[in-house]
Amino acid sequence: MGMILVTGGAGYIGSHVVKALGQAGYDVVVYDNLSTGHEWAVLYGKLIRGDVRDQEALDKVFKQHSIDAVMHFAAHIVVPESVRQPLKYYLNNVTGSLSLLEAMKRNGLRKFIFSSSAAVYGIPDKIPITEENRLDPINPYGQTKAVVEKVLADMAYAQDLDYVALRYFNVAGADPQARIGEGKEDATHIITMCVRTAAGLRPCLEIFGTDYPTPDGTCIRDYIHVDDLAHAHLLALEHLLAGGKSRVYNCGYSRGYSVLQVVEAAKKVTGVDFPVKYSGRREGDPPALVADATKLQAELGFTPRYDNLDHIIETAWRWEQKRIRLALK
Ligand code: UFG
Repeated sequence: MGMILVTGGAGYIGSHVVKALGQAGYDVVVYDNLSTGHEWAVLYGKLIRGDVRDQEALDKVFKQHSIDAVMHFAAHIVVPESVRQPLKYYLNNVTGSLSLLEAMKRNGLRKFIFSSSAAVYGIPDKIPITEENRLDPINPYGQTKAVVEKVLADMAYAQDLDYVALRYFNVAGADPQARIGEGKEDATHIITMCVRTAAGLRPCLEIFGTDYPTPDGTCIRDYIHVDDLAHAHLLALEHLLAGGKSRVYNCGYSRGYSVLQVVEAAKKVTGVDFPVKYSGRREGDPPALVADATKLQAELGFTPRYDNLDHIIETAWRWEQKRIRLALK
């Protein structure tokens, strides 16, 4: 089938993709510095501890394994943190990607799948957002993803690379069997915050901003289950391994929920009426991000399997309870 190098494969999204690759019969080499990832999250393949900025270590990996394609997840991902610590984001996300691409080129590898983000759009011209919308990020995190996408397009034009950039909307949920899920103690994403508040790990759920130009005043996002996103990666990989050309796809369900709707659903699914506190806007948040994901469906044949907010929250809730029970760190 092929051997796939997965950077950041011990992280939240990467580990679900590693699971999908393993289940589909691929050989997997996970390359992760374990800064935010966990050894327990790697269900398949071999884990090598290393940093994407380490050229020597990458050379060693490429020389020891006959890698067919690279999937690049290793990155910092927290929007408000990127506003406060931009250099940290540019160094890890941009320099890290350039370093990986340089090592790939030197070792004759050219198939690349990149974790991009809806954050590249900034405040979009219209909702739902198609891939043709102009890229105009409003936070450093989104900027790092837009810069790397530009590099990829330039390298593809120079015939150095074939890539698929997947622009993730809001990835949430966990393995339905609760073997893996969000493991970061300091996670910030809304659904994780809701289930951790419901579990009693936090005193209350803070809602950031109630004066956005949306029907209920809170931000709207398109939540996609992490296993559906993993499936999109497999389709992108098949496309590249079959000799397909470079592509960019939105990954979402083309449907938006407000923060208030998410909180309400989380209370219902968990059965816990957890406390909520209304706060001011969080820096770097666009009011609404909803994908037009028809291109992914039409071109790669993607069909969502978990397009249900309650189910997404339920898998996150089940995982969170298991994480607490096993005290996974
Ligand atoms: N929010 C709260 N309270 C919380 C956490 C979040 O009100 O405790 C709100 C945020 O202000 C935002 C919404 O919930 O309005 C979603 O926030 P998340 O932190 O869950 O996710 P983001 O939309 O900031 O970012 C995520 C990914 C990015 C990606 C983006 C694309 O982290 O990588 O989705 O839609 F770019």
